[in-house]
Amino acid sequence: MAKAADQHDLGVPSGDARADVGSDRREFLCKIGALASAGALAPLVVGCESAEVFGPEPVAGVKLDFDITKEPFKPLADVGGKAKTIVGGTPIVMVRTTATQVLAFKDECPHKQCPLSATGSWDTGKKQLSCGCHGAVFDATGKAVSWPKDGTTQTNLKAFKVTFASPTGTVQA
Ligand code: FES
Repeated sequence: MAKAADQHDLGVPSGDARADVGSDRREFLCKIGALASAGALAPLVVGCESAEVFGPEPVAGVKLDFDITKEPFKPLADVGGKAKTIVGGTPIVMVRTTATQVLAFKDECPHKQCPLSATGSWDTGKKQLSCGCHGAVFDATGKAVSWPKDGTTQTNLKAFKVTFASPTGTVQA
């Protein structure tokens, strides 16, 4: 039921026509990414050949393939390493948490929007991600387990589904 609603919201037709439109859209957006590759948006074009879709707004269901032997994902080769990318228009921070696990979260702390790719640190013992700006802490699912005592509403961090079998994996928005 929810899938049908999503398709309706995105104006995506069903069946073969849907596949054609998806293909055209991917090609179009990959071309946009290619145009941006000379500038600051270069990470947008990572993996375009494997049908990732990039857009100005978050797009549910979009996937990004990654390889920790290639930039910008090389920091994920080490446990505790972080990488920054964009999936479906959403900035993402990825964290190598164990030898076999990579997690991905929205790269924006829900407290006051610090980029966790810059301020976040992963505690391998507690299995928690801390924001260096004011001390908010999130568990591996993005649930806020500690929050600044400033009267703001404790809010969870959006987590994304990741599949990982070193050295490659997929993030799904
Ligand atoms: S912005 Fe992350 S704790 Fe304040």
